[in-house]
Amino acid sequence: MSSSITIQPNLLIERVLTIEIVRVTERAAVSAARLRGHGKSKDSDQAAVDAMRRELNKLPIDGTVVIGEGEMDEAPMLFIGEKVGNKTGPKVDIAVDPLEGTTLCAKNMPGAIATLAMADAGTLLHAPDCYMDKIAIGPGYPKGTVDLDAPPEENILNLAKAKGVKPSEITAILLDRPRHADIIAAIRKVGAAVALISDGDVAGVIHCAEAKTGIDIYLGLGGAPEGVLSAAALRCIGGQMQTRLIIDTEELHARILTMGIKDPKKKYEIEDMVRGDCLFAATGVTTGPMLRGVHFGKDMIETETVVMRSVTGTVRRIVAEHREFGKFHLD
Ligand code: FBP
Repeated sequence: MSSSITIQPNLLIERVLTIEIVRVTERAAVSAARLRGHGKSKDSDQAAVDAMRRELNKLPIDGTVVIGEGEMDEAPMLFIGEKVGNKTGPKVDIAVDPLEGTTLCAKNMPGAIATLAMADAGTLLHAPDCYMDKIAIGPGYPKGTVDLDAPPEENILNLAKAKGVKPSEITAILLDRPRHADIIAAIRKVGAAVALISDGDVAGVIHCAEAKTGIDIYLGLGGAPEGVLSAAALRCIGGQMQTRLIIDTEELHARILTMGIKDPKKKYEIEDMVRGDCLFAATGVTTGPMLRGVHFGKDMIETETVVMRSVTGTVRRIVAEHREFGKFHLD
């Protein structure tokens, strides 16, 4: 008796790419990590960008960077609209942050990562490099438990009720910025705790979906590109997220029109930012709550990567030992 397993070609390439994108974030992380603690945020970012671009161009994809290092005239590499891949595979949108937490890397502080998301062409939100108001919670809550337009205290109380705990058992994560003073005061007023991060809100949002972190909700303003990347991660692992772009200059108004965004005040759900299935990967640069940073051993380099796939909701943690030291040395 014989049996055969047929995997549709598009599903197969998507499965192959899940592993291939790990190579991309690994190389970016290793390159950035070489400059950890040297106080050179631009140099470490550039090193990560160079490595990520080089690896992306080896992939069997016909890719377009939709979230990147900036506009074509301000970013020589991985600019928005840049074509990447060897053009032999599917048309895909790519969101990249080769070094998320440039300051964290420069100061050798916890939580810097190299990250990217990939999805079918035309399905990722083309967000400009501006601020984005965000709210996110993990999976398992009824839809509408929290709302971007509700006051922070109401969101905390509703979340506590849905979780079946007292508000004092809720922890909110926010970027430590003066602009968040009122939100922080409101959260504390209802008895909830606040966890402040100095940078790195892609991981901040993901923490809401990781029970071990003890984080229940993300609130506040962070980068819009980071918002799309974290929405891709939540699309894979579950959770709720709502966002709104902060379009507060004439220049940004003009810019979003060219990006096809007609309503500057639109409230985005995850499905508006990531309109289909996606892949998400992140490799640790410095050790943080989500990932171990790059470890440079005597004869090998170790990396830790988390890679997610929304089709199945699979989350893989890949600890890699790279013995091809010579090649990495060149990065
Ligand atoms: P960089 O890696 O570009 O420095 O971004 C770090 C970061 O903390 C993001 O995680 C976050 O979304 C954004 O900066 C917040 O911006 P700001 O520092 O202006 O508040």
